[in-house]
Amino acid sequence: MEVLKVTGNRKLIGRVKVDGAKNSVVAILPACLLVDGEIHLTNVPNIKDVEYILEIFDYLDISYTRRENEIIVYSKYINNTELLIDVISKFRASYYFMGVLIGRYNNVTSLYPGGCNFGERPIDLHLNGFEKLGCNIDINNNIIKIKTNDLNGSVITLEKPSVGATINLMLAATKAKGGTLIDNVVMDPEIEDVVRFLSELGFKIHTRKNSIYVFGFEPEPDLKVVYEIIPDRIEASSYMILGALNGSLTIENVVVEHLDELIKLLRNIGAKVVVKGNSVYVQRSKIKSTDVVVKEYPGIPTDIQQMLVTLLSFSDGVSFIRDNIYKERHKQCNELNKMGAEIVYSSGLISILGVNELEATNIVGSDLRGTMALVIAALNTRGTTIISNYETVNRGYSNLLSKLNNIGATVNIEEYKLQEAV
Ligand code: EPU
Repeated sequence: MEVLKVTGNRKLIGRVKVDGAKNSVVAILPACLLVDGEIHLTNVPNIKDVEYILEIFDYLDISYTRRENEIIVYSKYINNTELLIDVISKFRASYYFMGVLIGRYNNVTSLYPGGCNFGERPIDLHLNGFEKLGCNIDINNNIIKIKTNDLNGSVITLEKPSVGATINLMLAATKAKGGTLIDNVVMDPEIEDVVRFLSELGFKIHTRKNSIYVFGFEPEPDLKVVYEIIPDRIEASSYMILGALNGSLTIENVVVEHLDELIKLLRNIGAKVVVKGNSVYVQRSKIKSTDVVVKEYPGIPTDIQQMLVTLLSFSDGVSFIRDNIYKERHKQCNELNKMGAEIVYSSGLISILGVNELEATNIVGSDLRGTMALVIAALNTRGTTIISNYETVNRGYSNLLSKLNNIGATVNIEEYKLQEAV
């Protein structure tokens, strides 16, 4: 069995360059299939979710070339809209193929999307929206069949803001007859990124603070587009939290505005944070306890909640974190408690009593951000922590090992004998 071996308690010093945003690229790559042409994407992160999408491209017979942080997609008309392949169930963003295929071909059959397992993650808002655009939906045995004769523009008011539903409905609506108004939207940077990309492809989309208007439209044939994905604010935030706990780190290639709330929070709890151009310097300090409520953008994102639990485990008092977006996103807490943390949680609320130090031991990774929260804890713990079931961290962290080892960490993947593991 392969495990992640983390030798901790060394001060981490240096520069980390942030890669392109996972939650943008997982929508932008499928969106290429809305048009015919050559789409050259830059700042593409080296993550497992991108590999999953390329596997789906292979299956659909879409060619591409990939080098370092770039992918060129040669998009063309496809005959196959049936996605009954295992990879669909391996990640959540496979749902964007539904929006794209229903948009362009009026027809898609797909397995149910997978993704990190931290409680219920329904897709009812996506499906209700497709129905509003004129689709018939049949769900049987984990297989979703969506069909329409004609997509017609509509007014869709989301019951609650959803990144995935907003993007998926936008993707489908690009080809509907007439305009579609999507309301009660929160304009996350990744949604804005997808809007900018679709506009570059020639689609007509207008945004306001909480709504998006998509005008169904056929762009030019044989497009040639070059597009740069925005930096990943969650990757940036993860390294900022690591810096506040254990380092002296300059995090480069960030959009500072996307990190405003975290910068405020880190400064409030005592960390030194200096912003310069498109980089942020974060220096370790004594951490003060605090209370945090995660919110939709521009609030503190749910995606960094688990790493904040690690950070506040080393604070000088009691902290509370409320996450009502994903109330069950706390699988890593038991593992942190195994290391000596004092965390108690119930649905949506986590209380953390700060301790002086954690102890290295054998722990088990869970979801993507939860596993990163364990890696950050292990890096601030004397001794060697063994993390089994760590692989999901590769779904969202580009070149994680080399980035960590470049700033002085010792993190390796090693073969581990089963009887020694947890
Ligand atoms: N929701 C519904 N019905 C739906 C969709 C969502 O009730 O049809 C609820 C969810 O259960 C949640 C809330 O609405 O309570 C917001 O969920 P959202 O739809 O925004 O989540 P998502 O689009 O599935 C994206 C990111 C997640 C991130 C959330 C929240 C992608 C591929 N994933 O998920 O990213 O946590 O938005 O910001 O964009 C991650 O990067 O680790 C990650 C999980």
